[in-house]
Formats: sequence, structure tokens, C-alpha cells
Amino acid sequence: MIIDGKREAKVLRDQIKKEISVLKSKLSKIPNLTVILVGKFVPSEIYVKNKVKMSEEVGINSKVIRYPESVSEEEVLKKIEELNRDTDVSGILVQLPLPKQINKEKIINLIDPTKDVDGFHPINVGNLASGSKSIIPCTPLGCLKLIKKAEKNLEGKHAVIIGRSNLNGKPMAQLLLRENCTVTVAHSKTNDLRDECVKADILVAAAGVPQLVKKDWVKENSIIIDVGINKLDNKIVGDVHFDGVKDKVKAITPVPGGVGPMTIACLLKNTLECFKAHLT
Ligand code: GUN
Repeated sequence: MIIDGKREAKVLRDQIKKEISVLKSKLSKIPNLTVILVGKFVPSEIYVKNKVKMSEEVGINSKVIRYPESVSEEEVLKKIEELNRDTDVSGILVQLPLPKQINKEKIINLIDPTKDVDGFHPINVGNLASGSKSIIPCTPLGCLKLIKKAEKNLEGKHAVIIGRSNLNGKPMAQLLLRENCTVTVAHSKTNDLRDECVKADILVAAAGVPQLVKKDWVKENSIIIDVGINKLDNKIVGDVHFDGVKDKVKAITPVPGGVGPMTIACLLKNTLECFKAHLT
């Protein structure tokens, strides 16, 4: 089974669009997503362009505030305080990476946790870890939704995650623990990575290494979620060698058309949830 992330993302966006349309007719208000983009890093430009396009498509009003690479930390912090106070703003997203003079933690920590659509604020990270209600980071949330397309009950499954980033690996581990999986988080310093991967009923690859996961790294009948987006010979490929692996496993996400579109759909979902939380 090839898990069609593009189609699942469209299903989710259609649900979001419908809900926003109902809310709009009742309240004459729509959600707003404000994105802060610093510098001219090409992948960030592409991500933000897609986030804006998809927001508009579902009826979320979006705004991008751009700063030059040289902007001071103070100026960005001042803008976040302003957006926190602005009752028209439902969600705030600061696109990463940020230039060296800006302390990423300071920026994330200042965002109002109830507007933190990325789920990166320590309050949201802590609530996820302790099992309380929280805003969940978009990529792992999208990955979980795709895993569930292949397998509803994840209890007792051995999940292996390659990568321990705050954006993906760590929250992915928390989400899978919440589903009663046995979770291994592998990373670049893991002694025998293949040996860990081959035990996985569910493998989430977020290593940033093109086609790292080969056929002899995966267990038969497993579920493979490929978070990687890498350029190889002018082609976009994932962290999994798709052609080698696809016939051995139960389900696999393609790149492109897998996790990517689902991540953005989950961002829209988080924005809608933040909007609704501010209505009361
Ligand atoms: N840069 C790469 N991925 C992300 C993301 O999910 N959120 C933000 N804010 N920046 C990113």
C-alpha cells in the first residue's frame, strides 16, 4: 500500500474549509495565520509560499511579515509581542531557521502558547509530554494521521524514529508513546542504525540523508513514513530508498506526495483550533 499523503491532506483541508465556512456565516470572523519570515533562505520561501496558498484555499486569512537577514532580535521580539496582543491574529508562526544573531529559544518562548500553531513553545512541548491537551507540531501530527491510514490500533507496536529534533523526532516519540507503542529514537550517534530499523513495525525516517533506509533495513509487513526531502541528481527523494523498499512493506509514504502535504494541512488544522480556542 502506498499511503497517498496528497489525497489525505486534501480530505483534511476540505473538512477544515467546511468548518471555517460554517463559523464564518455564524460569526462573520475567519482565522488568521501570521508568518514571520527572516532572510531569503530558498526552502523557507517555498514552505511559506505553500503555507500561504493553502491557508487562502481553506478560508484562513494569512499574512507574511518579512525581515531582512540583518534584522535584530529585539525587533522580532517586539513584533511577536504585538501579534500576541492582536485579537485578529489566531496563529503565529516564525519560520525556521533564523539567522545567528537571533536566539531561537527566546523567540519561541515569547509566542503566546495559545497562538503557537507549530506547537514549539515549552508549554505545548510539556503538555504533550505529560499527556495533557496541547498544540501538536504539524509534521509528527501529519505522520501519525498517515500511520493510522495503514493501521488503526498501534498498541504494542515497535516504533523506531530516526532523528531526535525538536521539530519532529522528539514530538513523534511522544505521540507514538501516547498510542501505546514501544518507542526507540535513533539518531546520527546510534551504534548500529540498521539493526534498530530492522526491528521496527513502524519506521519514521527523519534523518535528512537521501535514501538512507534500504531494503535490508526494513522489516517485512512494516509501515514506513518518510519525512525526508532531499535533492539527489536534481530529483527530490526521501530518506528511504522507495523503489527498493516498497514491495517488502505493508505501507509506505512517497516523496513527494506523502508527509509534506499532510504537514501543511495539519498547520491549517492547528490554526483553526487556535481560532476556536480564542472565541470563548
Ligand atoms: N522550518 C522547517 N520546518 C518548519 C516548521 O514546521 N515550522 C517552522 N516554524 N519552521 C520550519
